[in-house]
Amino acid sequence: MKLILKIFAKAPGKIIITGEHFVVHGSLALATAIDKGALVQAEAFEDIEILSKALGSYSSKKRQVPLSLKPTLEAIKATLEFIGEKKGVRVMIDSDLPVSSGLGSSSAVAVATVAAVASTLDHELSPEEMVNLAMVSERITHGRPSGIDVNVAVYGGVILFKIGEKPRQIKLDKDVEFIVCHSGIEHRTSKMVSKFSEMKKLYPNLFTSLVASSNYFTEKAAFALMNRDLTTLGAIMNFFHSVLSNFGMSTRELDQLIEKALEAGCIGAKLTGAGGGGCIIALPKSGEARVVAESLKRKGIDASIVKLPLEGVKVWQEKS
Ligand code: MEV
Repeated sequence: MKLILKIFAKAPGKIIITGEHFVVHGSLALATAIDKGALVQAEAFEDIEILSKALGSYSSKKRQVPLSLKPTLEAIKATLEFIGEKKGVRVMIDSDLPVSSGLGSSSAVAVATVAAVASTLDHELSPEEMVNLAMVSERITHGRPSGIDVNVAVYGGVILFKIGEKPRQIKLDKDVEFIVCHSGIEHRTSKMVSKFSEMKKLYPNLFTSLVASSNYFTEKAAFALMNRDLTTLGAIMNFFHSVLSNFGMSTRELDQLIEKALEAGCIGAKLTGAGGGGCIIALPKSGEARVVAESLKRKGIDASIVKLPLEGVKVWQEKS
């Protein structure tokens, strides 16, 4: 019996704690990996084949590429080209991240895919190479991404990110628990990024000073997170939500979720990711995450506690 070598790669999703949108314009942003992500299985194959429950299927024999798989297909082609291989690959994608919801689903899929494809061809990519190849997919999905989502998926843990700089890892002595509430409404990141960028034209001076404030408060938020100063961290999260909301990034549903989370006793709450739908994150007082999440769930809210894993993308093999 012939042994088949299967390659697996898993990459985490993310939440942005502070600095989304401003990061596209040069500010620092603080983000962390979460305990949900994308699992990709890959094996050597004569063609390129992609199978995904959420995104559909593609075979290079058929040629028609569903729009949902174009970014993944281009990242696979870029990886094969980078390694200098003319072979094909079969890729199976599974993810427990909701799509278009601000939790980094597309980046987790892109990073796990390029890592698994390279490993199928006996090639280990460096973290920088993974970021660059996954960005091929992200640019098709989001237009002008900062790269923060992809960097979290590659490096894991909590990172301080700025365009053009190597991400700085933040070490936490003890886990901090965030609650994620999903509005159930999907958004288009590229649309929200364009809408936010319009503000730069409308209010150039205010915009420049808010990018500087985002940078300053993100540094403060990272320091507060490291020192478990939840009061300061919560206040900074509230500041970010009100600014993002004033720039039209929130929705009635997201604002209601924020109100409910604060009413339930959270210290801070804000939209996370692009906004216009998707999720909010809320910071409960120390030791209160479970009680708060349960009370939100009783009100019919899709609330869950996220753990902050240290690991970024991970690749392994199994024989079958
Ligand atoms: C999306 O997760 C975060 C945004 O800041 C866009 C980006 O950084 O690419 C809205």
